[in-house]
Amino acid sequence: MAEDLNIITGTKEEQYTTLIPQIKGLLEGETDLVANLANVSAALKEQFGWLWVGFYLVKNDELVLGPFQGPVACTRIRKGRGVCGSSWAKGETIIVPDVEKFPGHIACSSMSRSEIALPLFKDGKVVGVLDVDSASLDTFDDTDKKFLEEIINLIRL
Ligand code: SME
Repeated sequence: MAEDLNIITGTKEEQYTTLIPQIKGLLEGETDLVANLANVSAALKEQFGWLWVGFYLVKNDELVLGPFQGPVACTRIRKGRGVCGSSWAKGETIIVPDVEKFPGHIACSSMSRSEIALPLFKDGKVVGVLDVDSASLDTFDDTDKKFLEEIINLIRL
């Protein structure tokens, strides 16, 4: 398998629709969760150039930092805390246009301006969160929600 991603310019939709088949290819035939989460983080970071892309996994009733791309980040987040802990508690995707306006936002990087967090479900339970941070305000919208949900549904948890 060629390991290079085909990175394109274009609309958000075009970027996601080119990237998704490549992510499918990366995940195909690999069952190791860490390997797959690492490659999904890398593929998203490479295509979109966001500040931080990564996963937190539920362990002993806390979110613990998993594979990611970007600056170092906080390692543990409690349920209901910050954007990630809220996404876990609610079992919902949370879009934050301006992190300074999100009560309880956890600032892992002072460069983060907007964020999206999506819960990962297994057997109806949240087992982790995909978190993406942008250095610009108002980066994420329903298009990101739709395509990122599609991408996390490809991951065998
Ligand atoms: N900002 C997140 C914490 C995780 S970092 O952004 C990587 C939050 O409020 O949950």
